[in-house]
Amino acid sequence: MRAKTLTELWRRGQLRLLLRATRLATPYYRVAWLAAASRAGLLQRLADGAVPLDRLALYFAPDAGDSDGLRSWLDMGVQLRELEHRNGAYALRGFLARKLAEISPGSLEKVLFATGGSDAMEIALKVARVATGRFKTLSFWDAFHGAGFGAASVGGEQLFRSGAIGPLLPGSEHVAPFACYRCPYGHPALRDGQPDLERCRLSCANMVRYVLEREGDVAAVVAEPNRAVPYVAPPGFWREVRRACDEHGALLIFDEIPTGLGKTGRMFACEHDEVEPDILVLGKALGGGILPIAATLCRAELDVGGAYAFGHYTHEKNPVTSRAALTTLEIIEDEGLVEHAAMLGVRALDRLREMKARYPLIGDVRGRGLLMGVELVSDRDSKAPAEDAAEAIYYLALDRGLSFKISMGNVFTLTPPLVTSVDEMDRALAILDECFAEVSVSAATKA
Ligand SMILES: Cc1ncc(COP(=O)(O)O)c(C=O)c1O
Repeated sequence: MRAKTLTELWRRGQLRLLLRATRLATPYYRVAWLAAASRAGLLQRLADGAVPLDRLALYFAPDAGDSDGLRSWLDMGVQLRELEHRNGAYALRGFLARKLAEISPGSLEKVLFATGGSDAMEIALKVARVATGRFKTLSFWDAFHGAGFGAASVGGEQLFRSGAIGPLLPGSEHVAPFACYRCPYGHPALRDGQPDLERCRLSCANMVRYVLEREGDVAAVVAEPNRAVPYVAPPGFWREVRRACDEHGALLIFDEIPTGLGKTGRMFACEHDEVEPDILVLGKALGGGILPIAATLCRAELDVGGAYAFGHYTHEKNPVTSRAALTTLEIIEDEGLVEHAAMLGVRALDRLREMKARYPLIGDVRGRGLLMGVELVSDRDSKAPAEDAAEAIYYLALDRGLSFKISMGNVFTLTPPLVTSVDEMDRALAILDECFAEVSVSAATKA
């Protein structure tokens, strides 16, 4: 049937016109387009004479017209082009790159795509090496940046870097991260968990400067601007690190895979600190949270790799994931989800702090926007982690229909989606409150 359709179109000269219209496509994608058009019945209807070819041609050079029939052909053409035609994939990828460049902080104008955060991190590391001519990195213990060799090397979690998989990338230096409630540099936090800057004088940022200075040839500092644990950087930390990077010729790579696109109540977490990275990596939410697409955004000056293939993944130009990302960004903007996350986060953190005042089990409440943490301790002075209580509350909450993640054994990491309503958040926190009450009462009874 299809062969007959194609022969018929060829005989009438229409197939040649059609192929000419797809002249920018590689032969493979021409065939794919024809197959798609055939599946959609378009070729059959052309052969039947039901659709004049000049109308179809308008899809390639649309000057619209206004008939419903034409519009529906255009619609279908757009869908086919997006899903089956390689030029459509390139076009969507271009729109997406432009959109990301437009919304990102500073002058991050060059974009490469990958199918996951780990791969996008590998691209970032390669760009930093090529652009600086250096290979060393400086990153933070306890961070996670992905599962590839490069990402695991800059990551600081034992689970992903120790044992049989070694050795990892040479030159991957680490320092202790900011973690004001449990400062690894030994400085006590204020009672509300905030840093005592008078005393600590940003030891954590000074250590970054110290290592950059001692090494002298670090390509990049790699970090999450807002740690996913979730720890917020002390005020001034990122400005100080940015300064140190600039003074020592190191690039600053921000991994915003979990925080980018609104999670912390700003489109990008680094905007809270008014610090612009040289490279910014996005993933997770970019594909609406369900489709695999990630991106590495770089300053234009870093585009020095020429024809070198930093990524070149089969699906980096995938039209479905590109479309998903564009639609995701559209929804985030149209529905004001960043502002919503900021508002909801302030409300939720207030409520959690109010719970902290009632439950001694809560040692710290921290976070920004919809990236929140509640750290459980059995004693507020010693800060001994209350892992059993954390587990008990976790299962009680699951029984009541509320799910969240526990990090480090005793930190509830609450990261609800941007579309969570005020009512849903209130109900979730009410469940958490009940569970804290229940576990606190049973602990008091036992004591
Ligand atoms: C901070 C951070 N970086 C990188 C990654 C890796 O992303 P992916 O799982 O898409 O490879 C993750 C994933 O959880 C992450 O949280």
